[in-house]
Amino acid sequence: MSTRSTISKKAAITDPEVRRKRMTVPACSARKGGEPLVCLTSYTAHVAHICDSVCDLLLVGDSLGMVIHGMPNTLGVTLEHMIMHGQAVVRGADKALVVVDMPFGSFEESPEIAFRNAARVVKETGCHAVKLEGGVEMAPTIRHLTRRGIPVMAHIGLMPQAMNTAGGFRAVRDEAEFERVVADGRAVEEAGAFSVVVEGVAPALAERLTRELAIPTIGIGASAACDGQILVFEDMVGLMPRVPTFVKRYGTMEEMMRAAVEQYAEEVASRRFPGEEHTYKPKS
Ligand code: KIV
Repeated sequence: MSTRSTISKKAAITDPEVRRKRMTVPACSARKGGEPLVCLTSYTAHVAHICDSVCDLLLVGDSLGMVIHGMPNTLGVTLEHMIMHGQAVVRGADKALVVVDMPFGSFEESPEIAFRNAARVVKETGCHAVKLEGGVEMAPTIRHLTRRGIPVMAHIGLMPQAMNTAGGFRAVRDEAEFERVVADGRAVEEAGAFSVVVEGVAPALAERLTRELAIPTIGIGASAACDGQILVFEDMVGLMPRVPTFVKRYGTMEEMMRAAVEQYAEEVASRRFPGEEHTYKPKS
């Protein structure tokens, strides 16, 4: 573990004036086997600003379809959604590496179409890398993007965009499936991905991927064996009513927001808000 970055991160928590240098793609890859990479999703400038001082990487995940837009899954998310939220997050973060997800339908057809859409994301948001779901079958696309200047974070294991072919959100727990996921990991690494999200896999598989791959593994529902962790911000702060079992809630935001809204409604109804102190005094 690097003492220098631990000290600076602790200092950043207590003293927002302490600034770290902007995380880069090579610096992220270099954390393989070292100090765990701290990652969260962000979809807005405000949340990005809150997370920026302590997170190494902020992901504008296509989970925003469910979390922000109330969709049933990620399949309806468009490139325009990702660009709009990507722009907001880039405005709110000046230290973390910002990665934007490629939504379903924007990269699968061909490496050329993937490049056109990923280049649009990079140009219009100012993000530093894109993420895309897929293993062996997406390796040619990852190679095409990385050789043309677009860093790629891969995503293997449980892939939410494949929910229809997989028959739902299914964690990889069956040992018979391990070889397929390891082959996916090797393929995305060989194609040039700088890191890989490993979602919903048994600890033994996460350990094996982390041991055998030379790029950092970023786990979500994949045990502490990974080189870093990522959670959806709204899940982690307790803003979502239902969360998967692998989520630890570090806050109770939904209760706090509900209580604030109820108190406001009650004070408006009883004319206790606005009080004297919340009104403009006449100019004399
Ligand atoms: O879309 C997303 O938020 C993600 C993370 C959960 C890894 O892909």
